[in-house]
Amino acid sequence: MSQDAAGYVTDTPYTYSYHAELDPGRVPLTLLRAGLQAPAIRTACDLGFGQGVSLAVHAAVSDVRWWGNDLLPEHVRHAAALDAVAGSGSVLLHASFEELLARDDVPMFDFIGMHGVLSWVSAENRGRLARFVERHLAPGGVVYTGCNAMPGSAAMVPVRQLLAQTALRAATGSTVERIEAALAFGAAVIDADARYLREAPQAADRFRALRSADRRYLAHEYFNRDWQPLFFAEVAELLGSAGLVFACSAQRTEHLEALTLTPDHRAMLATIADPVLRETTRDFLTNARFRRDYWVRERVVAEPAVRAAAWRAQRVVLTVPRDAVPERASTAIGDVRFDPTLLSTILDRLADHRPHTVAELAASNASDAVDDIVFSLAALDCVGSARSDGDLLAAEARAHRFNAHVLQRARQGELNVLACPVTGAGMPTSRQSLLFLDALTHGVQEDEAIAAAAAASLRLPAESLVEAARRFRMIQWPLLHALCMV
Ligand SMILES: C[S@@+](CC[C@H](N)C(=O)[O-])C[C@H]1O[C@@H](n2cnc3c(N)ncnc32)[C@H](O)[C@@H]1O
Repeated sequence: MSQDAAGYVTDTPYTYSYHAELDPGRVPLTLLRAGLQAPAIRTACDLGFGQGVSLAVHAAVSDVRWWGNDLLPEHVRHAAALDAVAGSGSVLLHASFEELLARDDVPMFDFIGMHGVLSWVSAENRGRLARFVERHLAPGGVVYTGCNAMPGSAAMVPVRQLLAQTALRAATGSTVERIEAALAFGAAVIDADARYLREAPQAADRFRALRSADRRYLAHEYFNRDWQPLFFAEVAELLGSAGLVFACSAQRTEHLEALTLTPDHRAMLATIADPVLRETTRDFLTNARFRRDYWVRERVVAEPAVRAAAWRAQRVVLTVPRDAVPERASTAIGDVRFDPTLLSTILDRLADHRPHTVAELAASNASDAVDDIVFSLAALDCVGSARSDGDLLAAEARAHRFNAHVLQRARQGELNVLACPVTGAGMPTSRQSLLFLDALTHGVQEDEAIAAAAAASLRLPAESLVEAARRFRMIQWPLLHALCMV
């Protein structure tokens, strides 16, 4: 197959990352929060899926039919193997965006996601992605984009240019070898007291942090020919050419404005009617480095009664131990406080870790306050939307096969997400927890033995893990059972 990599790194596979925003199950709650009607999503496509971890998780635990493509054969092989382990039957194409666009067998999709793609490909390929969306987004469908943003990425533009130019000029070696040469040269430039880095200390700090980063991540993040952090207005123009408009942020904490905007910022944004100018200004106020957004053909504003009914019908499930739910959420900007009595009433109902409709949680309470708490808990990843579609038993079987595979790879520590058939989402899980879980699923019951099973891979003394193993056995293990994950 002919592949035009268009300057994209092809000799180093990417990391095994999971991105929750690629889960179509998050769309309804988020769009409803923004006052918009949400479509039913039955088909989805992940463009440039990388190692395919997000796609494989979401295909395993929902009835959504997934397609996706990627340029690198290693990525497609890995994604296909994961998908086959679960038995999801997704359509995973080894195809460039150009080739994908030229195919005549690709259907329409209710959800099209592209995470970590737009900023890392050429302008020509960005145009192809827009044409793909224009042709293949079903009526009422939603597009998700996640990309490097301006102005927060601005200080890194010269650093990335220096690194990429150094790597390009290193005559020989693999991408990783040329990255090492570029990092060493960058360190020498810092040591030479470069005025740029002195006057942009933020860039110097980020460069220092890069030096210990995973080389596979660095290769795909900084060493392609293209690295173009995009202003919101540029993404809006690109997708506007495909007939799309901005729906809302896909990052749910962004909807809790008290956490991300000062009162003055909020007052200023409230005066800006134009959505493109408003979002561009928001990025300026928050110095956004990365944006995650939903786009639609038409913003269908839900009538209040329709919205209220849709909210009431949302099913949610508590995905963390009840005691782990905070009574307030805080950032350096501000905080969101929950009414302790109402929070407690809601948590009493959610404490069985089974799906409940918002209507059940609200009971006789003031509904707006309940809606606020439920959304905030979802934004804080304490609550997940519960899938309401199709065959839960089949999803459970697929999730168990997927999760067993993740546990088999826990010693390598490269795949840190479990599939949850109740929410239809992935649950990021630390390597230590996966190793404990692996021991428990193999019948190991004593805390000392669970700790010992994890210690060698973590290169830690077993004694130092006994208390963590006990807590995992007492708290996480029953939770994973309640969520039908093991
Ligand atoms: C930074 S990675 C992000 C991967 C994945 N979406 C994620 O976020 O984990 C970008 C991906 O786009 C793929 N890609 C780059 N150029 C492409 C092209 N022209 N056609 C298809 N895929 C491409 C790469 O192989 C890589 O997997």
